[in-house]
Amino acid sequence: MITTGVAVIGFGTVGAGVVRLLLEDGARLAEATGCRLVLKYVCDIDLKRKRSVAVPPELLTDNVERVLADKGVGVAVETVGGTTFAVDLMKRLLAARKDVVTANKAALAKCGAALFAAARAAGRSISFEASVAAGIPIIRAIRDGLLANRISAITGILNGTCNYILTQMSCTGALYEDALAEAQAKGYAEADPALDVGGEDARHKLAILAGLGFGANINLEDVYVEGIAGLQPADIAYGAQVGYVLKLLAIGRCAGGAMSLRVHPTFVPAGSPLATVSGVNNAVLVTGHAVGDTFYVGPGAGEMPTASSIVADLVDAAMGRARVTFESIAWLAGRARALSVLPMSDIRTRYYLRFDVLDKPGVLGSIAGALGRHDISVASVLQHEPARPDSVPLVITTHRAREGNVAHALDEIRRLPIVNGPAVRIRMLAGNGEGEE
Ligand code: HSE
Repeated sequence: MITTGVAVIGFGTVGAGVVRLLLEDGARLAEATGCRLVLKYVCDIDLKRKRSVAVPPELLTDNVERVLADKGVGVAVETVGGTTFAVDLMKRLLAARKDVVTANKAALAKCGAALFAAARAAGRSISFEASVAAGIPIIRAIRDGLLANRISAITGILNGTCNYILTQMSCTGALYEDALAEAQAKGYAEADPALDVGGEDARHKLAILAGLGFGANINLEDVYVEGIAGLQPADIAYGAQVGYVLKLLAIGRCAGGAMSLRVHPTFVPAGSPLATVSGVNNAVLVTGHAVGDTFYVGPGAGEMPTASSIVADLVDAAMGRARVTFESIAWLAGRARALSVLPMSDIRTRYYLRFDVLDKPGVLGSIAGALGRHDISVASVLQHEPARPDSVPLVITTHRAREGNVAHALDEIRRLPIVNGPAVRIRMLAGNGEGEE
């Protein structure tokens, strides 16, 4: 039996889940894996707050130096979060010759290369299964299970809060604000929910998945981001009428030495696997040249799903497997591929466009003409009998078009006297890879 001392640093929601699993399932885990994880410290600056799990008082400390100095701690869990103290702490833990397990996607997306270098320098490992899609073992799937593949596409629903909000808006007609308040009450949202609804959280996760899947160091600035705040129920309803469901997608593509990386609201075909993923669940569609399409779905946020991935990483680290993996995966070992990033204006995808127009002869022709002049082909048109002749919603979906051309066409259309204000533009997905570049 391998026995390893474990410290959990950061006793918040996720830290408490890890502690609960270690205390309540430790014996079963030891039996199942041959590895006994001995919880030695639960460290937090605030030890007074009520937690969901009771911890023997002798394990509690507010002094992280005790953890750093204790040679009996082989693996430390970082569940502090943030990119300042937590990054410094992880480097210090590695230098103190402890393997690190983290769920900190912001730290990995912003400082991953430096953290991996610190781990290599110390001869230790960083494991981060819980950083993306919480309970879904997507890091293992891409890193180990799909190792034989050249990965060309990663398409994910990577933020549970946004998926919860969009599901509530689609299914119950809930207002955006009410659905967000519910997600916060259930503990899905980040401390600052702007990270969720602004798309930043999904952006961090896409940077990690694309880094691992495409083997390149991702500069976060190269990942385009657009969040869900401001989406209108009317567009969700019109999208449904033409057979689409609205999701916040994280999309990574890699072909011919170039990547495209983006997070934005996206209409997906109603029958497709991604469309069926509801509530706080996450899902990832990964395409490899040998395997084809693979699809992973499960809880993407919350205390116990995140703890589930962290404890799996703890076992890997304690068994010494994490260090072997760390040395053998080129991206983690410091041998990243040099790939370029396609500018957003050059991506080609499908578009949902909603114009507020006057109900007059020639309106449809003027708009279709402007789209045609910019090489944009119309796929469908939806207009209902007008309630008011000065304000009629006209919904157009397009075939695949260049983003830069769509921007120019919308600019031209906005200046037409028959149009009230700017159009709503939401990108569409025709399928994984199909209709996308
Ligand atoms: N706030 C995140 C989400 C959970 O809603 O998906 C942790 O990543």
